[in-house]
Amino acid sequence: MSIGKDSLHSLFETTFGKASNVNYYFCPGRVCLIGEHLDYNGGHVLPTAVSLGIYAAVSKNSGNIIRCKSQSFENEVIIKLSEDIFPKNEDPWGNYIRGVVSYLQNTGVKIPGLDIYFASNLPHGAGLSSSAAIEVLTTFLILSETDEPIDLEKISLLCKDVENDFVGMKCGIMDQFTVALSKPNQAILLNCDNLNMSYVPVDTGDYKFIIINSNVPRSLTNSAFNTRRQECEQALAELNKKFGITSLAEATFEQVNSVGQDSPRKRAIHVVSENKRVIEAKNVLEKGDILRFGQLMKESHQSLKEFYEVTGPELDSIAENAWSIDGCIGARMTGAGFSGCCIALVKNDHIESFKETLGQRYLSQHPTPLSFHEFEMNGGVRTFQKQKFT
Ligand code: GLA
Repeated sequence: MSIGKDSLHSLFETTFGKASNVNYYFCPGRVCLIGEHLDYNGGHVLPTAVSLGIYAAVSKNSGNIIRCKSQSFENEVIIKLSEDIFPKNEDPWGNYIRGVVSYLQNTGVKIPGLDIYFASNLPHGAGLSSSAAIEVLTTFLILSETDEPIDLEKISLLCKDVENDFVGMKCGIMDQFTVALSKPNQAILLNCDNLNMSYVPVDTGDYKFIIINSNVPRSLTNSAFNTRRQECEQALAELNKKFGITSLAEATFEQVNSVGQDSPRKRAIHVVSENKRVIEAKNVLEKGDILRFGQLMKESHQSLKEFYEVTGPELDSIAENAWSIDGCIGARMTGAGFSGCCIALVKNDHIESFKETLGQRYLSQHPTPLSFHEFEMNGGVRTFQKQKFT
């Protein structure tokens, strides 16, 4: 689906009526190329924004309320700016907006009444950071509409706080940082311990990354995610006592192997090995050794399956089938896991046959058909006027 400014404008006017001054904004989703479950463990990640994302048309209204409508959800979200704002269990998507509005108000931003229409071609709940996208988009557009300074790093940190403390998902910083700060055709190498970052050009030559969506909803994600995080904290507490380690990703294999309890030890083994893979992946990408990059993707998936135990039957089936299909040199789950999406690195002239073979093999093992998304890397959150996004 392609969403242009004109269609967004007419959706806006159908919902809210004519407005003289409408502005348009876009925030992408992201894929993590490699470096999973490292952000909240002080490790390195290598993600990039994708061209699928969420669009917003915005106009000021004369009331003291924010009114939001989304093409993807039935209910309208209404926030009274003069009242205290709390999360509402019955309205999960509205909570991202409520959280952002409330946290921005707490930093002293005077938010005017706004009408906002959202439209999206980013699958939601699929591990492509639709939550970070709506948070960062909403923050960016409110700051733009109020002529407040835009500091993308600060935006990402505020949105992470919203997600952790207002929405209740104990995520790390990777998603918000990536959708806010990405640049065209680059990945971000981010050290999540101190937020030092560099851009890494992504030139995959004859190969292309593609997204493979299992289309299976990730209902258990939040609780299982928070449990993994606790297990890592348990491992770190033990390693801190024994060796003075303050960030799990910095431990040695010998140290993590000494962790007493099974689950925390396995999670820590993944963290240490994945962190090394990210550094190697960045180096091989810079050298153009794309075959080795693909191999690292495979090793990453295997570690997420065996040690972190977040892949699940659908993502294993996608990745493991993909590895053996002609033209595919690497595939792995991306995002939190427990279903959602994989990414694969596939030779350009094999993409169609790859999709067909994988789609068929998968359907002989699972009931829900896969969908495939090709994408460009066009950078992070931004305003837009004329261009069409696909
Ligand atoms: C989710 C979280 C991120 C990160 C990934 C796993 O997307 O929001 O912070 O932990 O899972 O790498």
